[in-house]
Amino acid sequence: MMNNENRDNPLIEETLDPQNWDELRALGHQMLDDMFAHLQSLREQPAWQPYPEQAREKIGGQVPMHESDARAVYENFQANILPYPNGNIHPRFWGWVQGTGTPLGVLSEMLAATMNPNVGGGNHAPAYVETQVLDWLKEIFDFPSQASGLLVSGGSMANFVALAVARNAQAGYNIRQEGLANHTPLVVYGSVEMHSSLLKAVELLGIGNQYFQRIGVNEAFEIDVAALRAAIVQDKADGLQPLCIIGNAGTVNTGAIDDLDALADLAREFDLWFHVDGAFGAWAYTIPSFREKLKGLARADSLAFDLHKWFYTQYEAGATLVRSDRAHYQTFTVQPPYLKHTGRGPHGGQNWFTDYGLQLSRGFRALKVWMAFKTFGLNKLARLFEQNIAQAQYLAELVERAPHLELTAPHPLNIVCLRYLAPNMEDDPLNAFNQELLARLQESGIAAPSSTTLRGKFSIRVAIVNHRSRREDFELLVAAVERIGAELMEETSNQ
Ligand SMILES: Cc1ncc(COP(=O)(O)O)c(C=O)c1O
Repeated sequence: MMNNENRDNPLIEETLDPQNWDELRALGHQMLDDMFAHLQSLREQPAWQPYPEQAREKIGGQVPMHESDARAVYENFQANILPYPNGNIHPRFWGWVQGTGTPLGVLSEMLAATMNPNVGGGNHAPAYVETQVLDWLKEIFDFPSQASGLLVSGGSMANFVALAVARNAQAGYNIRQEGLANHTPLVVYGSVEMHSSLLKAVELLGIGNQYFQRIGVNEAFEIDVAALRAAIVQDKADGLQPLCIIGNAGTVNTGAIDDLDALADLAREFDLWFHVDGAFGAWAYTIPSFREKLKGLARADSLAFDLHKWFYTQYEAGATLVRSDRAHYQTFTVQPPYLKHTGRGPHGGQNWFTDYGLQLSRGFRALKVWMAFKTFGLNKLARLFEQNIAQAQYLAELVERAPHLELTAPHPLNIVCLRYLAPNMEDDPLNAFNQELLARLQESGIAAPSSTTLRGKFSIRVAIVNHRSRREDFELLVAAVERIGAELMEETSNQ
C-alpha cells in the first residue's frame, strides 16, 4: 500500500505548506470570490435537491495515495459538492432548527482556521476570547459574573454537560468515585415535548430512560406544573431520588415556552437542580416583549443554548452556562502530570476549558461568536430574532386565510405547524397525504420545511431561524403547499 516517493532519501524533509505560495494564494482568492458569489445567488438556487449518483461517484474512488493539484480538488468540490447542500443557508429552508450562518462567519472561520489554536486552555488570545464571549453570554442571560460557561458543539452537548453537572452536584455522594451502582435511582423531570438530546444525556449519564419522567403538557404544549409536582411527590414516596427539573425555553416541536418561573419555584421547594433547554428560544430573552415569559430562565442552575441556530453563526457552536463554577469544575476536572497548569508559558493562565467539559482538544469556536457580537451588535441580532417571530405570525395568518390549510398548533415563537386539509379524508390517509405533499414540496426545490406529528396529526413544520427569509418567501410557501395539495387531490380522486 505505502508508496516510496521520497522514501529513498531520508534527508529530504517534507511539509504540507505549499511549494508555491502565490499559486495557493491565487486559488484562495478565487475560492473567496466564488463562495461570496454563491451566497449572493442563493435565491436563484433550489432550497434543496437530491444528491445525484454521478456526483457521488466523482467524490469517491480508492483511497487517494498520491498528491494532486489543489485546483483540481477544488473544481471537484465546485462541481460535485457545493451544488448539493443540506439547504439550510437558503432563504426558504425552515427544516428542523437549522441556522444559516453568515458571510462574516465564513471569514471568521478562515481566521480561526489560520490560527488553528487548541482552545483546551492556557495563556493565549483565543482562550481569552472564549472567556470574553462567555462573560457576554452570562450578562445577556442575567447569570452572575462568577458563573461558569463553556462553548460546545451545539445544544445536544450543552444539555449533556449541564445534566452531568446536575447529576454530580445533586447526587449527594461522590459519584465520580463510586459510580451509580448501589445507590437510590435518580430521577430527571421534564415535559413530553423535551428534545431527544436530553434523553440521550440521561441514558449516557447512567440515570436510565426509565427514570426520565416525561410529564404531560397543556393545550399550548407547555408542561403541566401540577402533574410535575405530583410526580415528584410520588417518586419521593416511592423511595426514588428526584434530581433535576428541565424547563423548555422553546420546544423543538412548536416553540412552546414552559412556565419557567413556576419550575424554578418547584426546584427550589424540593431542592432540585433546575436546567433550562433554550437551544434557540433562550435568545427570545433579548426581546423586551418576551422578557416576562422567559424571566424564570435567569433563575436556572444551568442553561443550554445554541449559537448556530438563532444568533446565526456557522456550525458548530452552542453554550452551557452553569451558576456554580465549583460544581461545573468538579464534574470534569482531571489534571494528569502531562496537562499540569504550570502558571507560566503557554500552559499558564486561568482559562482552562478542558476542566469544564469532555473535550481536551477544542477548536476556536469563540472567534466567530466574538466577531458576530462585535460586528453586528446584540441589538441588530435581537431585531432579527424578532423579525423571524413576526414572519412566523405572518405565515400563520396566511395559513388561516388559505382555503385548504389549517394550523396544527399554537405558534408562540418562531415555529409554525400546518397541514393541508383534504375534505372527507380519515386521519391516517390524511397524514400520508401531507407526508407526500411535504416530500414533493422539498423535491420541487421551492422550500424545505421539515415535519412532526402533533397529537396524531402529521404536520408540515416551519422553524424560522433564517436571517435571509422575507415575507414573500412565506407567500411562496403557502401558494406551493396549496398548489401541490390540489394536484395531489386530483391524483387521489382519479385513482
Ligand atoms: C429544544 C432543542 N434542544 C436541543 C437541541 C439540540 O441542539 P443541537 O442540534 O445543536 O445539538 C435542539 C435542536 O434542534 C432543540 O431544538
